[in-house]
Amino acid sequence: MFEHAQQLPPDPILGLNQTFQKDPNPDKINLSVGVYQNAQGQTPIFTAVKKAESELLAAQHTKSYAPQAGDPQFNESIGRLLLGDTLVEQLGDRLATVMTPGGCGALRMIAELLVSVRPTATLWVSTPTWANHFPLLQSAGLTLKEYAYYSPELHAVDFDAMKASLMAIPQGDIILLHGCCHNPTGADLNPQQWQEVLDIVKQRELLPFFDIAYQGFGDGLNEDAFAIREAISMMPEVVVANSCSKNFGLYRERTGAAVVVCENERDTAAAKSQILSAARRSYSMSPYHGGGIVGHLLNDQALTSEWKSELDQVRSRMNSLRVNLAEGLNTAQSAVNFDFLAQSKGMFCFLGIEKEQVLTLRSEFGIYLLESTRINVAGLSEQNLPVIIERVSDVISR
Ligand code: LMR
Repeated sequence: MFEHAQQLPPDPILGLNQTFQKDPNPDKINLSVGVYQNAQGQTPIFTAVKKAESELLAAQHTKSYAPQAGDPQFNESIGRLLLGDTLVEQLGDRLATVMTPGGCGALRMIAELLVSVRPTATLWVSTPTWANHFPLLQSAGLTLKEYAYYSPELHAVDFDAMKASLMAIPQGDIILLHGCCHNPTGADLNPQQWQEVLDIVKQRELLPFFDIAYQGFGDGLNEDAFAIREAISMMPEVVVANSCSKNFGLYRERTGAAVVVCENERDTAAAKSQILSAARRSYSMSPYHGGGIVGHLLNDQALTSEWKSELDQVRSRMNSLRVNLAEGLNTAQSAVNFDFLAQSKGMFCFLGIEKEQVLTLRSEFGIYLLESTRINVAGLSEQNLPVIIERVSDVISR
C-alpha cells in the first residue's frame, strides 16, 4: 500500500529547525522556529509554571478523563486573561471556551466549526501570514484568499492598501486577524488603525477570527488583547484561537483554547457542540496537563504575579535585543537603514534582505532564518548579537 505514498517536503519552519539541529557547525545560530531562548541559549521553564506544575501533580489523584471541553478552571481563566473580567461578565453564556491541543488545535477546531455552519466559507488572511495557516485551515475545508498587509518596500504595514483590500472582501466572509505580534512580520496595527479596520469589518459584516499566540509579548497582556476586546464590544460574533505555547512557555504540552462569542446563548451552545463534535471525531479531547497547569497558575494570585513579572522580563529582553540589532546593523553598514526592526513587536520580524543573502548566511555562517527573511528575535542573545551583526553586514555589503 505505502509504495504509493508520496514523500512530502519538510515543513518550512519545523524542517529548517531540524536542519539546524543536524548542522555540525559549532558556531551555528538558530533564528528559525519561534521559541524563546535566554542569554544562555536555553528555553527555560517559567518559575511560576514549574511551581504550578508541581502543585498540580501533588494534588492530582487520578488520570481519568477530564471534561471533554477541558479543565473548567483553565477555560474560565483563559477567557478572563484574553477578554478581561468586565467583558467576561457582560457576555455570560454568550462566551464559550474549549481547551485545545495548542493554538493549532484551536485554529483547526474553529475552522471545522466555520465549515460546518458555512460550507462555502472564504477566509481572508493577511499577505503574508504564518506559513502553517494555509495547510491547516485549507485542509479543514475553508477556502483561503489574501488581503494586503505588509509592504516589503515600506518595511511596515501598507495601511491604505490594507483598508482598500478589506473594503473589497465580499460581505459575510471571514477575516483572520493576528491579535498581536504579527507572525511573520512583527508589524502590528496601532489602536487607531485597529479601530479603522474593525469599523470596516463591522460595516462589511465580516466575521472576525483572531489568532493570538503571543499575548504579553508585544506591549503587555492587556494592550495585546486590545483588538480582540474591541471587536467583541463592537460585533455580535467573534472567534478566537489562543495559544499558551509562548506566553506560558508550554510549547510541548500543546495547550490552547478555542473561544467563541455568539449573538445569544443558543448560538453559543450550538457552536460549542460543533467544536466538541469536531474534537471527538479527530482527537476526542485535548491533552490535559498544560491546561491544568495554566488553570492552576491563573487561580493563584502569587503565582499569577510571579508569572506576569517573568513575562515582563521576557518582553523587555526581546525589546532590547531588537533595538540593539537595529542599532548595531545601522552602525556596521550604511547600505540599509534598519530602524524598522526596532519598531517590530513580539517574536518575529523580517530582516528584509535578499533570499540569496539568507541562503549565504545559512551555508557560510550557520545562521538560520526563514527564506522569507523572518528572524526569531528571541533567538538573538547578548552573546550572538555581535556575530550576527557582523555576518549580516558582510552579506549585504558584498
Ligand atoms: C513559528 O512560527 O515559528 C511558531 O509558531 C512555531 C510553529 O509551529 O511554526
